[in-house]
Amino acid sequence: MPNVTKVRVNGVTRSIDADPDRPLLGVLRDDLDLIGAKFGCGEGQCGACTVLLAGTPVKSCRLKMSSLADREITTVEGLAHGDALHPVQQAFLDRDALQCGYCTCGMIMCAVALLNENPHPTRDQVVEEMNGNVCRCGAYGRIVDAVLAASNSGKKGKA
Ligand code: FES
Ligand code: FES
Repeated sequence: MPNVTKVRVNGVTRSIDADPDRPLLGVLRDDLDLIGAKFGCGEGQCGACTVLLAGTPVKSCRLKMSSLADREITTVEGLAHGDALHPVQQAFLDRDALQCGYCTCGMIMCAVALLNENPHPTRDQVVEEMNGNVCRCGAYGRIVDAVLAASNSGKKGKA
């Protein structure tokens, strides 16, 4: 018996046949081939799986398909416009704000949501808002620099 959930992913309506108890993260990665969001802890503690749900950052490893009917999801794959990276993506590249890169997509999604809410955060506000995202490589300083650089670029874009 099919379990079809309709969701909008990166602006496209998708009909997804998946067990209602499956977490969104697995569906994104395994069914939709959107592999930017990563599996880190699987327990909502590291932020590697962060995507936006109606503009709010959420841990997709903890989000069941049953809660997502007709909701709007944005993944890191939905940020760029053609060849033009989202300003937050560009700032991460320019500031070399990654080492292994495992946390990066989650960090970027969190930063995009933060800047949409608060276009000119202080350094302390960036640290506080991104507190739920862990970087095992300890690249925090450059990550915060990148978010602040994006906030000062004057073109933060929209997710
Ligand atoms: S994998 Fe989702 S929070 Fe760690
Ligand atoms: S760059 Fe390696 S976990 Fe953050």
